[in-house]
Amino acid sequence: MQLAGKTALITGAARGIGLAFAKAYAAEGARVAIADIDLARATAAASEINGAVAVAMDVSDQASIKAAIAEAAKALGQIDILINNAAIFSAAPITEITRADYQRVFDINVAGTLFTMQAVADHMIERGIKGRIINMASQAGRRGEGLVAVYCASKAAVISLTQSAGLNLIAHGINVNAIAPGVVDGEHWDGVDAFFAKYEGKAPGQKKKEVGEAVPFGRMGTAEDLTGMAVFLASDAAEYIVAQTYNVDGGNWMS
Ligand SMILES: NC(=O)c1ccc[n+]([C@@H]2O[C@H](COP(=O)([O-])OP(=O)(O)OC[C@H]3O[C@@H](n4cnc5c(N)ncnc54)[C@H](O)[C@@H]3O)[C@@H](O)[C@H]2O)c1
Repeated sequence: MQLAGKTALITGAARGIGLAFAKAYAAEGARVAIADIDLARATAAASEINGAVAVAMDVSDQASIKAAIAEAAKALGQIDILINNAAIFSAAPITEITRADYQRVFDINVAGTLFTMQAVADHMIERGIKGRIINMASQAGRRGEGLVAVYCASKAAVISLTQSAGLNLIAHGINVNAIAPGVVDGEHWDGVDAFFAKYEGKAPGQKKKEVGEAVPFGRMGTAEDLTGMAVFLASDAAEYIVAQTYNVDGGNWMS
């Protein structure tokens, strides 16, 4: 029970990694707000997690960010932990990237992370909460990928924002850190696989098989592989950790 009595707002938690985080946090004694643009799915997820509530939230919309934080704070009492997990994937060769797609990815992955972090930090500072903020980066933010320029750039920005916000907010006792997963199986990667099937002429499932075999650990990650780090970064044991991004990727980034 490393998070007993704590409360957490997790964005994009209706499915995938965010949902695994919500379950892991609840198992450690926290009450969680499952915030997602897909309210129906968030509601279904929350109904199966002890003490959880569902909150409608579009992280690309400033009014929605504020409303979701107010609703979560009302339901949970306050917000001790934020996980900025909501994001979208996008891929295209450089010559086919559109401004509209770039804008959408940056609005959600970068501005969504920054302005949710800002609004939750305001909430924490007002109430004197020594809180924790965890941003979801990616191995995609560690280096470019030929067909994934916009998503990679957005995750590099998340790593940079984590550094700046970490250095700024620790003055208020708020620790900001990030997790950089490698390749994690789930609906997100179903979409990635479909993209590569189109652009590299691969059979469905082929890209997933290849990336899994290339991971030094020997397989793709699961959402549950990431929960230990997410619990640790929110726990008392991580009090002295500031502005860091941790790879949890089966050795993929080092290989
Ligand atoms: N799956 C991977 O291989 C992988 C690898 C590295 C990093 N990540 C990162 O981990 C995080 C979670 O990934 P996942 O695989 O669970 O993704 P996912 O696509 O399965 O889930 C994303 C969730 O975010 C929600 N969402 C989308 N747009 C939103 C918006 N505007 N406002 C609020 N919610 C919104 C979706 O409804 C969905 O529930 C993301 O930040 C992703 O970039 C994933």
